[in-house]
Amino acid sequence: MKVTVFGVGYVGLVQGAVLAEVGHDVVCLDVDTNKIERLKQGHIPIYEPGLETLVRENHTTGRLNFTTDAAAGVKHGEVQFIAVGTPPDEDGSADLKYVLAVAETIALNMESHQIIIDKSTVPVGTADKVRTRMVEVLAQRGREDLSFDVVSNPEFLKEGSAVADCMRPDRIIIGTSSTDTEDVMRELYAPFNRNHEKIIIMDVRSAELTKYAANCMLATKISFMNEMANLAEKLGADIEMVRQGIGSDPRIGYHFIYAGAGYGGSCFPKDVQALIHTAESIDFEPTLLKAVELRNAEQKTVLFKKLNAHFKGNLQDKTFALWGLSFKPNTDDMREASSRVLMEALWEAGARVQAYDPEAMNETQRIYGNRPDLGLCGTKEAALQGADALIIVTEWQAFKAPDFEFIKQALNKPVIFDGRNLFDPERLGRKGIRYYSIGR
Ligand SMILES: NC(=O)c1ccc[n+]([C@@H]2O[C@H](COP(=O)([O-])OP(=O)(O)OC[C@H]3O[C@@H](n4cnc5c(N)ncnc54)[C@H](O)[C@@H]3O)[C@@H](O)[C@H]2O)c1
Repeated sequence: MKVTVFGVGYVGLVQGAVLAEVGHDVVCLDVDTNKIERLKQGHIPIYEPGLETLVRENHTTGRLNFTTDAAAGVKHGEVQFIAVGTPPDEDGSADLKYVLAVAETIALNMESHQIIIDKSTVPVGTADKVRTRMVEVLAQRGREDLSFDVVSNPEFLKEGSAVADCMRPDRIIIGTSSTDTEDVMRELYAPFNRNHEKIIIMDVRSAELTKYAANCMLATKISFMNEMANLAEKLGADIEMVRQGIGSDPRIGYHFIYAGAGYGGSCFPKDVQALIHTAESIDFEPTLLKAVELRNAEQKTVLFKKLNAHFKGNLQDKTFALWGLSFKPNTDDMREASSRVLMEALWEAGARVQAYDPEAMNETQRIYGNRPDLGLCGTKEAALQGADALIIVTEWQAFKAPDFEFIKQALNKPVIFDGRNLFDPERLGRKGIRYYSIGR
């Protein structure tokens, strides 16, 4: 099938590459000329395991192409994916300007029936807004004869395993009330639906809400565990034991119940905020969602509070080794990362940071530029040299079994602040390391 994808970010690029891999003929379109030119030359703008090979191979075979030419892009596809960003507006609502700009572009350039597939995470009612905008533009063109349908098809990929998630989705949510559109969507996704039925057909508004409900549920699990962790600390309990104790209940399960330094990323924070905004706009008080967000904002300050207490409020001119900058492992994405809240608090207190991350060094440099209180180190060992403590914010595999003797020698004093509970407190105690973690 001929497919056009608007937006070559984490979602659009991965989706485009995966659709090309199974044989569809894909054109990815973006307004960012630089990104498109680089992609044409085989440079992948983001780090995502397996993506580089997939993009290069499919680009070489001609099944995956890149353009900034809207007319050519729209002309190519029988279906048009919208996979552009929906960042939070100042009031926390999802900003739909990119989504609606794509709707306009499609309506301006389409010459035959089109199916518009909304893959971006958008508030309930967005498909209606896309439809209205397109009808307006088609009317201005005098092309009311052209028909189209808008489908909600939210994406559930996880950064860090985006390619694998798209190749083997848990479920494929399709929001449409048209049987013709359903038929086309089933054909599009047939290669991903062979093992067992994964397609769930529903009305558009339910599909739109499903995505928010999923992310808010996951954010709730994390904030719940963080609340339990803070309680455990005060009550003399160990949240890691509690986690295993409750995870063994199949109704609860082990997934997503790790306590830590708060959730970040481009999705949970903005999606929780957007659903709060949606609820309030219809006079519904989202008590639970607000608590989830509040707990998370507080949790991002927990490591700093522990540091500040350990150093008795004197962080001026201290140097801290920081392992992990991305908001989670296996990505270079630093949007809303806990590391940023921590670094900014440390700088505010007059401290210096020596940071290392396996993939997010360029992104850190892009965000913060060159500043005297930030050293970007080439290895995790280099970050330790002469530091007053080690802080771990992201649970990359490479941090899970470090050489503790080396850490002890490299640091001024053997102190570790661990925002992801990677180590056994007793074991570290025996090694003579002062160890602070979350909820233990
Ligand atoms: N990142 C994730 O893990 C993830 C997972 C599921 C869903 N989502 C949702 O998918 C959507 C996209 O997220 P992302 O992380 O891929 O965003 P992103 O910011 O990485 O990429 C968005 C891309 O859209 C491009 N763009 C903006 N306006 C455009 C236009 N008019 N025409 C063509 N391209 C345009 C931008 O230049 C950019 O390259 C969001 O709604 C997000 O909430 C993201």
